[in-house]
Amino acid sequence: MTGGAGFIGCAISAELRSRFERIIAIDILHPQVHKTPVRPAALHRDVELQRFDITEAAGWDWLLPDIFPDVVIHLAAETGTGQSMTEAARHAHVNVTGTAVMLEALARHRRIPSRILLAGSRAVYGDGAWEDPGSGEIIHPGTRSRAQLARAEWDYGALRPLPSKAAVTIARPASVYGATKLAQEQIIQAWCAGFGTAPAIARLQNVYGPGQSLSNPYTGIVAFFCRIARAKKSIPLYEDGKMLRDFVLIDDVVSGLMAMLDAPEIAPHAYDIGTDSATRVMDIGQRIAELYDAPAPHVSGRYRFGDVRHASCSNAAIAGLKWRPRFPVEAGLVRLQQWIETQFGQAEDMLTLE
Ligand SMILES: NC(=O)c1ccc[n+]([C@@H]2O[C@H](COP(=O)([O-])OP(=O)(O)OC[C@H]3O[C@@H](n4cnc5c(N)ncnc54)[C@H](O)[C@@H]3O)[C@@H](O)[C@H]2O)c1
Repeated sequence: MTGGAGFIGCAISAELRSRFERIIAIDILHPQVHKTPVRPAALHRDVELQRFDITEAAGWDWLLPDIFPDVVIHLAAETGTGQSMTEAARHAHVNVTGTAVMLEALARHRRIPSRILLAGSRAVYGDGAWEDPGSGEIIHPGTRSRAQLARAEWDYGALRPLPSKAAVTIARPASVYGATKLAQEQIIQAWCAGFGTAPAIARLQNVYGPGQSLSNPYTGIVAFFCRIARAKKSIPLYEDGKMLRDFVLIDDVVSGLMAMLDAPEIAPHAYDIGTDSATRVMDIGQRIAELYDAPAPHVSGRYRFGDVRHASCSNAAIAGLKWRPRFPVEAGLVRLQQWIETQFGQAEDMLTLE
């Protein structure tokens, strides 16, 4: 598993233990994610951690002669959506070149896994599909222009946003990050077709919950809001605060990814993983403020290029693998808050605001 020491890698590590004889986590322990470059306590003790950069062929050439991976779980990535707009090369290097370097090494060493599971992203959809309420026409408007955003035209007129469905929604990324995640999917799908490997492509909505990096300022809006509210400050909301997101608890993502690993047959298309519902960012901000007894959130009117207006998905495809989410956002937030308190006891500085 690449990126195995990250949020999702640690969360799935215990589940993997009951499925595989040997589990190897490859991770560079990126300083933006890991405040200190040490093995995370949440990574299951039976998982071997190998520290190298997935973009370096030498690391793979050192590792692969000794192992015969049956399944590869590809999680390593640069994940900052906003950051990807100004650091495009870094995102493309790790996410796109890194994926290709890994696949080339597998081919070079003749280590052909039966399945490659990719943690893909909702970011591939960009602004996704919208419906004209008058005509019923489905429109993929693309990306909001600089001029549109400068005029505070957050939505696309009267169009209504639709939940994304991998089978029908056109992937048209609005950020460099989204474009690299789409490239990862396509590279893996093409490689797998050539080598007889089953690609298992998950498109995850906004994952949150215990284990999320509390120090990474570039990703994880829910953890970020919790940090602000915990400091008794008012959460700033971008745009008009009415953006929709599907916040899916890490526990549900773990069970969803396991359903994709366990399924005897997996379709080559992507599987959306979310809660099948959307929450306004201002509403999750308000709930978090209440949990921490913090002042109400405020609309800042600021915006970021690369951010999409609304994001949610239909779980119809993954429901076919007998999976459904179990945690509504209210229950998930309470779990996250409880976990944050345990972290606070251990490392006060994790929660100080930059
Ligand atoms: N968390 C979410 O909301 C979310 C949503 C959609 C998709 N995803 C995808 O899920 C995957 C895992 O995300 P996460 O939330 O666990 O992120 P994370 O940042 O917590 O974990 C990523 C891990 O990859 C490692 N890494 C980064 N660059 C590396 C490199 N060059 N070589 C080796 N290791 C490297 C980091 O050290 C980190 O431990 C990513 O591919 C991400 O795009 C996450």
